[in-house]
Amino acid sequence: MSRLSRGVLAAVAAAGLAAGGIAVVALTASPAAALDNGLARTPPMGFNNWNSTQCRAEFNESMVKGIADIFVSAGLKDAGYTYVNIDDCWAETSRDAGGNLVPSHVRFPGGIKAVADYVHSKGLKFGLYTSAGTHTCNKAGFPGGLGHEQQDANLFASWGVDYLKYDNCNNQGVDAVKRYTAMRDALKKTGRPIVYSICEWGKNKPWEWGPGVGNLWRTTGDISDSWSSMISKAHSNATHASAAGPGHWNDPDMLEVGNGHMSETEYRTHFSLWAEMAAPLLIGTDLRKASAATIALLSNPDVIAVDQDPLGKQGTVVKSSNGLVVYSRPLANGDRSVALVNETAATATVSTTASAVGLSGSSFTLKDLWSKATRTTTGTISASVPSHGTVMYRVSGGGGVKNPPPPGTSQLGDLPWTSATNGWGPVERNLSNGEKATGDGHGLSIRGTKYAKGLGTHAASEVDYFLGAHCTTVAADVGIDDEKTGKGSVVFQLWADGKKVADSGTLTGSSPVQHLMGDVSGATDLRLVVTDGGDGIANDHADWGNAQITCS
Ligand code: GLA
Repeated sequence: MSRLSRGVLAAVAAAGLAAGGIAVVALTASPAAALDNGLARTPPMGFNNWNSTQCRAEFNESMVKGIADIFVSAGLKDAGYTYVNIDDCWAETSRDAGGNLVPSHVRFPGGIKAVADYVHSKGLKFGLYTSAGTHTCNKAGFPGGLGHEQQDANLFASWGVDYLKYDNCNNQGVDAVKRYTAMRDALKKTGRPIVYSICEWGKNKPWEWGPGVGNLWRTTGDISDSWSSMISKAHSNATHASAAGPGHWNDPDMLEVGNGHMSETEYRTHFSLWAEMAAPLLIGTDLRKASAATIALLSNPDVIAVDQDPLGKQGTVVKSSNGLVVYSRPLANGDRSVALVNETAATATVSTTASAVGLSGSSFTLKDLWSKATRTTTGTISASVPSHGTVMYRVSGGGGVKNPPPPGTSQLGDLPWTSATNGWGPVERNLSNGEKATGDGHGLSIRGTKYAKGLGTHAASEVDYFLGAHCTTVAADVGIDDEKTGKGSVVFQLWADGKKVADSGTLTGSSPVQHLMGDVSGATDLRLVVTDGGDGIANDHADWGNAQITCS
């Protein structure tokens, strides 16, 4: 939770319950207004040397120039890859007499500016690395940025740096938000547009404060070139989907595609999942040695188009059972991208439906983004998927919902949504969550108060509405349904265009009804999110009672 929303909740707690025993929570200001540097409106695409070279000697000026050359000659620049970034070990171990960082005389004899100039001469952008600590992570002891933020940011800007990855080693226990905010402000003061990548490995819940501080934040520890590492990063990253949006992205770490310890099938799953989750696509293999198959995989235009979709919504898990996982991502033109993932050791059929991914209608087109085959369906989305494989479809048709709510106050339970995902069974209109099929819920009821209208959901859930910048306020009474009194625990949140505008804090099956309100003025997109309160999703029948939207 952001410091501001924590403050708001503390104030509410201090004020006690409002009349009628209903706690009122509304955020009067956006808790973490998204960083407004205008950059990374879609997830950054590029290269970083770390996964292929770490600190070995082959990480040097000629490698960086070679990568820039290949971006152009192999068509990767045309495919969208822009940033050529370098990682740890680029510096000397001491600052100069003026306190400035010094590029390694061995690796970068011409300095960093010369390399940046070369990268720029190819129409590409250049990224650099340091740590929000006294030293970077490598044991050689390269100096870090803590306490030198402005001097280092100024130097980076003078070299023409376009992207900064800011790591977490040797941080001396200084508060993370303070450390990362100091560099954000220093970068801003340089006046140079610099994409800001927070790399604190998900240690301090960066998905809560990252949107106001950086353009992307790592959600996990370091990836390695193995199926188990890659898939565990995907699982962790998937739980923070609500925090992602244009200009601010979850980062499950750089790509391992092409590094040799996963199969082609597994690398496709890796790339598909990163695209489905709107993750940065930073190539982590030495492209100078990459096979044609690796270059082709990394260049798949249909999968890249999903990653770079301008709506900027991270895909979410629609269904997960016994290692068969379905992700869905709404796209700007109303299509859905659906990834059918088989994490098991044997070929299996993975299935979902058009309605489960938020589409309505009776005829849909499925384009397989890897085989390029196209077929039609009346609703079933299903494929035989090899062990560790992914079938990724772009699903179109059925008519995406693009009409904003009518003027006045409407019940969200009666309005069409653009997408709805739910932890258990479908989201219910004007009923509680019945767990299996549409319409099998009961009347909405929280601590004895009954609601004729509202939404019945089950954590983890996200219901999205198109607002078209016509609406002002959303309000609902929230809590765990009486059918689960005394059980479960959840958090209700309202998000407008990727900014959190209300947060209930953790509510258990004994918490009183809470009135949640959010300001959605000017927003195009509304998300009603329910996350697990920390004890697993069992019993998390989450009601949005009398959920109303007011529009002009
Ligand atoms: C940390 C980061 C990695 C890499 C190394 C460099 O482990 O998480 O991505 O930058 O440091 O030392």
